[in-house]
Amino acid sequence: MKAKRTIITFGDMRVGKDSNRSKRTPTVRKDKTAIIPVDRFPALPGDRPRVETGSAAVADLGAPAAARPSMAEREALDRVDLSVELAPTRGLRLANPIMVASGTFGYGVEYGEVVDVQRIGAICCKGTTLRPRAGNAPPRVTETPGGMLNSIGLQNPGVDAVIEKYGPVWQGWKVPVIVNIAGESIEDYVEVARRLDGVPGVAGIELNISCPNVGKGGLQFAIDRDAARAVTAAVRRATDLPLLVKLSPNVADVRPIAKAIEEAGADAITAINTLSGLAVSPDRTRALLGNTFGGLSGPAIKPVALRIVYEVAQVVSIPIVAIGGITNLGDVLDFFACGAVAVQVGTAIFADPELPVRLGEELAAECVRRGLTSYGPLVGTALPKRAGASSAKGAEYRP
Ligand SMILES: Cc1cc2nc3c(=O)[nH]c(=O)nc-3n(C[C@H](O)[C@H](O)[C@H](O)COP(=O)(O)O)c2cc1C
Repeated sequence: MKAKRTIITFGDMRVGKDSNRSKRTPTVRKDKTAIIPVDRFPALPGDRPRVETGSAAVADLGAPAAARPSMAEREALDRVDLSVELAPTRGLRLANPIMVASGTFGYGVEYGEVVDVQRIGAICCKGTTLRPRAGNAPPRVTETPGGMLNSIGLQNPGVDAVIEKYGPVWQGWKVPVIVNIAGESIEDYVEVARRLDGVPGVAGIELNISCPNVGKGGLQFAIDRDAARAVTAAVRRATDLPLLVKLSPNVADVRPIAKAIEEAGADAITAINTLSGLAVSPDRTRALLGNTFGGLSGPAIKPVALRIVYEVAQVVSIPIVAIGGITNLGDVLDFFACGAVAVQVGTAIFADPELPVRLGEELAAECVRRGLTSYGPLVGTALPKRAGASSAKGAEYRP
């Protein structure tokens, strides 16, 4: 039996209905690598003994009957409502909260052969600018312990080509596509947003504000509260599309910036973009990357992302989408516990393109295991019970 889907308000966020909302079970887990799926069909009381579980059980409908989940397991999974509303007043409803991060999944079409993209919660496409960009000089990427450093430099064909080439494809998709946009001036951002407004297949905009503002001597929008507010407000006026704004971690205190973005009319906050970093050439005569600096991503940045989500969740009431180093379900649950209502998977996709889809399945199974029909009760469980209590301490602790 398919559960009736009801969206209810959870704070200012909307997560699928759950009858066990008041039950807050602490997460006890053992971290797993991204490539080993958890047991997605845990035994339920009264179930017949299982023969086999695993990704083949769901993915391969032609598999022998013994490899498929039992009827009871399937019904239990179907009762779980993973939907989430990211823009309550404009409508950006995701079937599940596992998205893919900008710059790590192209325009979605590139992965069509290897992943069932329709089963992803939402796709944030590659950063798109007003005019085409060739990107930075090579080398553009290098591996680091627990992550990678990239300086792609927003290589993209420009907003008009993106609309023409991908719009018609996205229009036929069930999965919402959110276009990540970037610019060097407020006028750039506004013009890109204006061109995307009303384009069929475009479900929302994510502002990448970690870009130099040429009018302010190259100071990034994301590290200047007034610039972050101004660009958000200007784009808000230019479009009715759901608007997500992406925070940079490269600031001393992100909270005033997050609040300014909320006040300026963003529907949701995404956090975080990459951390500014540098690698040295093997002969130690220069910086390794062609652009000198790069953005650090991957598991190494997860604690920073968690800290920022934790801080921001205590000062804004719009939904928070967490990004940074996610490789397994435990990471997703950690971000939910710190107040995120959805997540984006980035760097881990390069090694494991199916991870986002698998995480959706694993989250449903985790809800079943906990006797939940939505993941709402998992959101915010690690936040201080008293508003403002330990948030300030965390932000000010700078060894
Ligand atoms: C190769 C690469 C390209 C990226 N391009 C963009 C981009 O165009 N726009 C953007 O907002 N973020 C971009 N990002 C940042 C990611 O969307 C994400 O915020 C970051 O990688 C942290 O998540 P992760 O640790 O899961 O990768 C890029 C990241 C990588 C690794």
